[in-house]
Order: sequence, then structure tokens, then C-alpha cells
Amino acid sequence: MVPDTPYFESDLARIHHEGFGFHADRVAPGVLALLEPVRQRGGLVVEIGCGSGLLTRYLVRAGHRVLATDASSAMVDLARSYVPGAESIEQLRLPDDPVPPADAIVSVGHALSYLDDEAHVDRAVAALARALRPGGVITLDICDVRYGEGRRDEAPKVWFGEDWVLITQTSVPDRRTFRRDMTMFVRSDPTSWRRTDELHDNVLIETSDLLPLLEAEGVDAQLHAAFGHETLPTGLMVVTGTKS
Ligand SMILES: C[S@@+](CC[C@H](N)C(=O)[O-])C[C@H]1O[C@@H](n2cnc3c(N)ncnc32)[C@H](O)[C@@H]1O
Repeated sequence: MVPDTPYFESDLARIHHEGFGFHADRVAPGVLALLEPVRQRGGLVVEIGCGSGLLTRYLVRAGHRVLATDASSAMVDLARSYVPGAESIEQLRLPDDPVPPADAIVSVGHALSYLDDEAHVDRAVAALARALRPGGVITLDICDVRYGEGRRDEAPKVWFGEDWVLITQTSVPDRRTFRRDMTMFVRSDPTSWRRTDELHDNVLIETSDLLPLLEAEGVDAQLHAAFGHETLPTGLMVVTGTKS
């Protein structure tokens, strides 16, 4: 039993599902192109940090066999109802939970940047590489230190849906941390709103340091600015590799 994550409890999980699908929409064509050889041979795709299944649904609709995973039980619950065609959707928290053997590993929406520190990211990436079968493909996005450098002094942002409001204040308390301080209000009945707060710290790393680590696990990997032809936010880097 995975202990619950402090990130993405039920209100934020729903807000993310309804208001933040643009990233999965943007990266899906590039991810699907990278994973096409895996689909053709009927390989198993393991998705890490699938959230509510926004990318998972693209993968399943394209004909992939997908085992989708996330640390947040609220996200897993949403994904199970949003993507009924996945082989399985399970709670899995990196860096310690075992990663099932896979022909492809995919992770979008900087799920690995939610780990506690760089040592945990290294451990998680090594575990992902070890779970890949020979010929398997890994592709993921993750925040570089440049992600924080471009975001100092950002003004607070407000997002809203029909029955929710999210206010986010970001900061860069040190070169290796990007912080989102979030307050959300969700309508709980016609006359009242429930307030919830979440504080997210993303660890910022030198993403190029992941390449030798992957190589040591038999994965020939490269850094890219995108999965395909999409434009990603500054400092969000894509690591893609193949296991020999
Ligand atoms: C920004 S969301 C992205 C969700 C989804 N991939 C998307 O693009 O819509 C980051 C996801 O990473 C998950 N996550 C955070 N820490 C994690 C960990 N230690 N192991 C696995 N997933 C984690 C969160 O629960 C959340 O669903």
C-alpha cells in the first residue's frame, strides 16, 4: 500500500484534470510518434505520473497496451474512470516502489520533478532504466535549473472553472527549487466554497547529468527541447533513450 502523496489531493486532482489538459494535448503527437515502433510490436507502455490519464487516453486510443501509474490516489481514481481501456491503472510512487518490466516508459508533466531531491531523481531514473526491456524506449519531461531561472518574480496567476478557482504564487527559493503555493476554492454546495491549500516543490536539476546515469544502465539517451514539434516551456527538457 503506497502512502498517500502530499501532492494532488482530490480538489487539486480534479482542477488539474479540468483545467490543465493542454500539456498532454500538446505533447501527445510527439510521444505517439516516438512510441509507434512499440505499438507495432504490441509492447507494454508503463506510464509514470499519469495523473488523471490525460496522456493515457491518447495512448490507449492509439492502440497501445498501457499500465498507467501515479503516486496520488485521487489521480488514480480519476484516471480509472477517464481511461477505461488501459490494461491497468495503479498507485506507484517513485523512487521506492518497484517499476514493472516495460517495453516503453513514458512520463509527461514533469512528474519526476516532484521527487524530494536530485538523489531521488537519480534513483528513480536508474530504476526506470532497469525496468526497460532490451530495445525498450524511455521518454520523459523534467525540469532543468533553467526552468527556475526564467521564472523569478512571476506575478500570481488565477485559473477558474465552473465551480472552482485556483490561485498560484510561484517562487524560486533557491537555484534547485521551483515552488508553487496554491490556494483553491471548490464549490461544495450552492452557498459555500471549500478552501484547500497545497504547496508543491519541484526539484530543478542539470538534466544533462541524467545521460551518463542512463548510459550506465544500458540506455543510449539524448536531451531534446520537445517530444516532437511542439514548443515546451523554457527549461522543461525531454530525455529520450533506447535500451541496448
Ligand atoms: C503536473 S502532474 C502531471 C500529470 C499528467 N502526467 C499530465 O501531464 O496531465 C504531476 C503528476 O506527478 C505525480 N507524482 C508526484 N510525485 C510522484 C512520485 N513521487 N511518483 C510518481 N508520481 C508522482 C502527481 O501525483 C501528478 O499526478
